Amino acid sequence: MTVDEQKEAVGEAALKYVKPGMKVGLGTGSTAAWFVKAIAREVEAGLKLTLVSTSVQTTQLAESLGLTIKDINDVGTLDLCVDGADEVGDGLALIKGGGGALLREKLIWEQARTCVVIADAAKHVPVLGKFPLPIEVEPFAWKGTVNRISDVLVEFDIDKLPIMRKKDGQPWITDGGNLIFDVACGRIEDPSGLGAALKSVTGVVDHGLFLDLAEVALIATPDGVRIVE
Ligand code: 5RP
Repeated sequence: MTVDEQKEAVGEAALKYVKPGMKVGLGTGSTAAWFVKAIAREVEAGLKLTLVSTSVQTTQLAESLGLTIKDINDVGTLDLCVDGADEVGDGLALIKGGGGALLREKLIWEQARTCVVIADAAKHVPVLGKFPLPIEVEPFAWKGTVNRISDVLVEFDIDKLPIMRKKDGQPWITDGGNLIFDVACGRIEDPSGLGAALKSVTGVVDHGLFLDLAEVALIATPDGVRIVE
């Protein structure tokens, strides 16, 4: 299977977690887009759902497919969230935020009873950290924040500088108006320690370590979709 076929397979497989009447969070990225397309097809065929979105990008895709996206503040607790990831590690620890939507994604995930992560085979890794860890930062006084992030990284033996994400030479701005810094950690030996330390830095809005949030991962393999719990 090509990578795109793998993404389509897991996007379709996630439909089995969707039941009529559910409140469902739609993730962001090229894998989650397959789930959004599958949902649009089922809704067109008569399935009734309440949908919320994790990004402007996903809202635009969903609406272009005829779906209605509700304001999360009008919906309350979600039954389900289905989303992609950049890495899926041991114990379903994840790196997310490659698409820059980590804050809204985490807000939606935290408000969902069940979170299902969908990923192609290459994303399933023994140790997190090969994919650069995204950190969302308040733009005001960002240089001081980055210095404090660097101090935290040193404490965790990560000898790498946070790199500001850019697009067309300009700072990449999130849906919430923040900056993203990516850290090529290499190996993250202590994801929960690092996550907690980063979260405690003033100016860090959030980071892409999603720990103890996913209940199940659907991973594409050459033989089909594998369920990891
Ligand atoms: C966006 C994300 C995405 O879920 C993650 O980057 C995976 O994207 P893709 O499915 O395109 O590989 O976290 O912030």
